Amino acid sequence: MQIVLAPMEGVVDHLMRDMLTQIGGFDLCINEFVRVVDQRLPARVFHRLCPELAQGGKTPAGVPVRVQLLGQEPHWLAENAARAVQLGSPGIDLNFGCPAKAVNKSRGGAVLLKETEQLYQIVKAVRQAVPAEYPVSAKIRLGYDDTALTLDNASAIEAAGASVLTVHARTKSDGYKPPAYWPWIGRIRQRIAIPVIANGEIWTPDQARQCQQEAATQDIMLGRGALALPNLAQCIRSGQAAMPWPEVLQLLMRYSEFEVIGDKGKYYSNRIKQWFSYLKLQYPEAAELFSQLRLLKRNEEILRLLQHQLSLYR
Ligand SMILES: Cc1cc2nc3c(=O)[nH]c(=O)nc-3n(C[C@H](O)[C@H](O)[C@H](O)COP(=O)(O)O)c2cc1C
Repeated sequence: MQIVLAPMEGVVDHLMRDMLTQIGGFDLCINEFVRVVDQRLPARVFHRLCPELAQGGKTPAGVPVRVQLLGQEPHWLAENAARAVQLGSPGIDLNFGCPAKAVNKSRGGAVLLKETEQLYQIVKAVRQAVPAEYPVSAKIRLGYDDTALTLDNASAIEAAGASVLTVHARTKSDGYKPPAYWPWIGRIRQRIAIPVIANGEIWTPDQARQCQQEAATQDIMLGRGALALPNLAQCIRSGQAAMPWPEVLQLLMRYSEFEVIGDKGKYYSNRIKQWFSYLKLQYPEAAELFSQLRLLKRNEEILRLLQHQLSLYR
């Protein structure tokens, strides 16, 4: 069983990857997407989004972090894929699932699921640009509006030379509305021979097992579920009990101290609130704390509130 930490733009940054991979259970992280339009991006763009590149492309716990590219032009995606690998990315992931309007309008992300031939050309160009020992993976949804092209898209991606396919088992139109249609992944598995990673709506070990069964694959990717329950991967892998709330509070403090002191202070309040929006699905304590926290704007106020909460458990 491979367990992959999902890319989540604006939420799963390098500190989150560091914390979650130290808790353990993950084999691989996919980085939040790097947007490629019509140029070769400077190295600093890759380093900003994926600081692990400077550490051999791994988190401090030693888990590889693969750079993800989002774009529409095979040539520019290939150029940037080659660069990301030169900079230390242990492979390339291609995003064909992003539902954002701005991205879809410029032919990037999920809208490419309507263009099977273009998917093929992109994967082929990237595969050719990246040395054979580095995996090139693709991440798709089931389709844009419907599932008419799901199997054709999966076959095209395989034929173009992709090493692995991750499937978020919903269309773009489904958004993030449950359920995720895991049996569709099973159908894709029957069609193609490359490994398939199942993704979408895995929040508990029971759901992981059900997904693995319906999708007919052991390999899974966890996104929001791993933010709601930081040791979800370990719960799935080794039956660990859910992390107690005081330990989650400590993680929140670690994240906060880093974000506030580090250079990303301006994102901190949004990011921590977004993390809370997932934590409160799992922890009643988080729901209670969030009702106070959501009114706070200044980083220092949020930090003080968290420190106070933690002191109650000492
Ligand atoms: C806030 C947010 C940001 C995301 N950013 C990315 C991204 O950068 N690249 C990508 O391929 N998917 C992205 N996704 C999709 C997730 O990787 C994943 O496919 C989706 O959340 C379903 O999995 P889950 O139910 O386990 O969360 C994002 C999802 C969310 C909620």
